Amino acid sequence: MPQLVLDNVSVHYEGQAAVERVSINVAKGDFVVLVGRSGCGKTSLLNVAAGLVEPVRGSASIAGRPITAPGPDRAVVFQNDALFPWLTARENVAFALRLRGVPPGERARRADELLKLVKLDGAGDKRIWELSGGMRQRVGLARALAAEPEFLLLDEPLGALDALTRERMQTTLLDLWTASQVGVLMVTHGIEEALVLATRIVVLAPGPGRVVRIFETGFSRRYATGEAIRSIKADPAFAAARGELTDAIFEGEAA
Ligand SMILES: Nc1ncnc2c1ncn2[C@@H]1O[C@H](COP(=O)(O)OP(=O)(O)OP(=O)(O)O)[C@@H](O)[C@H]1O
Ligand SMILES: [Mg+2]
Repeated sequence: MPQLVLDNVSVHYEGQAAVERVSINVAKGDFVVLVGRSGCGKTSLLNVAAGLVEPVRGSASIAGRPITAPGPDRAVVFQNDALFPWLTARENVAFALRLRGVPPGERARRADELLKLVKLDGAGDKRIWELSGGMRQRVGLARALAAEPEFLLLDEPLGALDALTRERMQTTLLDLWTASQVGVLMVTHGIEEALVLATRIVVLAPGPGRVVRIFETGFSRRYATGEAIRSIKADPAFAAARGELTDAIFEGEAA
């Protein structure tokens, strides 16, 4: 089972420590969520996993091979979407298919399927600058899925969505994760979102960024085996976990 491993990773910018000695393992089929207040190094860690930032100490690897650059085994959805604004939604997704060597005749059809998965059917002909922020995030997600990666690296992928769309997209993400068994490493500021999606939650605190708590959670596995989100959220265990997670993030704040 290939694992994405960050082992004792430290990240410095211009000599200043942003992250110190953080270790995170993501196996295929895991859904690992990073939470913690602004500036605690979540994006930095994702960038190390993506191969965009080199740690000053520690190592990053997949299946034992060092991560030194971006690769087709990992797809990234950035905090600020990095789509091509002059292309349509379909063309943005098709671009990732082209990189994967999908024949031209199949790209548009496959791109439309992926847009449908993120509930953007009908928006294929729209240019990126014509779409709302939430729609752009979903195009970014469709494009990431087009690469059929082993690992998905998501930086607040649902942050720009309204509450209702966000809830729908959480189940969409879980459906995609269940069907593909990718390993996910995702950043969010949503406490409920972390609990609904994660198999493991890593709580970070700033100054410099470090791990303060790890929660092994089982709510998303319950969804994967058929339980409804509503019923999971109504479980007293869910409310208890929400309280514990909130405390852990606050403790980090006091530190
Ligand atoms: N390219 C950079 N150059 C210099 N400093 C940086 C750079 N990127 C991040 N930092 C600093 O490193 C620290 C961690 O930043 P990072 O973006 O990883 O935090 P984050 O947890 O993702 O925050 P947020 O929740 O606001 O997105 C911050 O103090 C930030 O100012
Ligand atoms: Mg960030």
